[in-house]
Amino acid sequence: MTKLFKIRRLLSSVLHKYNYSTAAKSMPTVKINSTEFISDDYTNVTPKIISYLGRNLHLQNDNPLSIVRQRIVQYFYKSFTHRGKPTFSVYDNLSPIVSTKQNFDDLLIPVDHPSRAKSDCYYINKDMLLRAHMTAHQSELLRSGLNNFLMIGDVYRRDEIDSTHFPVFHQLDVVRSQRKEQLFPNHPDLDIFEPTFDKERPHLFTNTITDPTKQSCHTLEATKLMEAQLKNHLIGLVQVLFGDDIKYRWVDAYFPFTHPSWELEIYYENNWLEVLGCGIVRNEILANAGPNNTIAYAFGLGLERLAMALYKIPDIRLMWSQDSGFLTQFQNKELNAKITYKPVSVYPQCTNDISFWLPENITIDTFMSNDFYDLVRDIGGDIIEQVKLKDKFIHPKTKKHSLCFSIVYRHLERTLTQAEVNKIHKDIENAIVSAFNVVIR
Ligand code: PHE
Repeated sequence: MTKLFKIRRLLSSVLHKYNYSTAAKSMPTVKINSTEFISDDYTNVTPKIISYLGRNLHLQNDNPLSIVRQRIVQYFYKSFTHRGKPTFSVYDNLSPIVSTKQNFDDLLIPVDHPSRAKSDCYYINKDMLLRAHMTAHQSELLRSGLNNFLMIGDVYRRDEIDSTHFPVFHQLDVVRSQRKEQLFPNHPDLDIFEPTFDKERPHLFTNTITDPTKQSCHTLEATKLMEAQLKNHLIGLVQVLFGDDIKYRWVDAYFPFTHPSWELEIYYENNWLEVLGCGIVRNEILANAGPNNTIAYAFGLGLERLAMALYKIPDIRLMWSQDSGFLTQFQNKELNAKITYKPVSVYPQCTNDISFWLPENITIDTFMSNDFYDLVRDIGGDIIEQVKLKDKFIHPKTKKHSLCFSIVYRHLERTLTQAEVNKIHKDIENAIVSAFNVVIR
């Protein structure tokens, strides 16, 4: 998971004007499936990205993401049943086209929050985008009367290019709510809310998050009990997936839609790997959506991260492979079978550098690298393995700024020839000259 919803980043670079946006430049509307959307100066979704919609890797039987999804759903069904029936409902087919209200406003994400930046999201227009997280559906499902549910699907974020990042990935989000009687069955004297909070008139109370341990409307007992249940439940999950010996740690976090919030990291191949974000749902979200007598916890985890670690899959692009050498390794397997991915064969990489002078009004700090990455991926497709910044340079006399990137090309299923890589590389050079007004060195 990238840190999109967590950190506050500087917005300055977002405002500069050379924004790569194929859709906005060449057509007044964007067509997705059979629906046409009016485009505007927010539009930055590309035809390449649109082509991933509907692939639903999390629902394809032989895909590792689908195996991880089923294992987690099974864990939930086992953990929470009432008279033999699961008490959770599962939504794995919600449309990834959402409004800014769903993705941000309903979740109390401030209007100036960096996670809304055009440089980080795929906007269809100023009101619609490809969801950047599954939490985008939380409010509507609460509003429809649900208390306990799971949401699974594809999410879209503009990001760097390397073996663990892809602009489309998959998340599983959960909400579990409880009423006073469910949370404290043997303690009728305990309550979810502080006596000063009137749950029938929540707007009369300013719910603050200045106390790091809890929201001001909640009692400490309710918050602590929810925290313990949430953490136990999640530790149980990673132990079911990775075995009882898995090393883990909790890290305090900040999300606009939960308080308090945490992240869970697991120790995997000598590194701490962040696998999920979670917390106690902000009471405003519950109150706005309907239920005014419950407290809820929520979490969101990235399926790719888990699948890559569980099955030792070295490159995130493999999830999209339709090659039988990949898929057969996950076919007709027991859900809990131990599978270790064996590379079918490793085809060689080809690395070509690209260096260019930036136009006068742009510096090495304001250059929008995510626009550049999208363009490289648009032209090169999935044979782009990595794009890394190699060098920055300011000419001592002319004061012109220059950047050099290495582009690593590798096909997952065959050897690329230098000639075909050179041709694609040349196409990328031509495209960046016209999109960003740069001069190739
Ligand atoms: N939506 C958050 C993300 O994508 C994860 C999250 C979900 C955190 C629910 C808290 C509660 O980073």
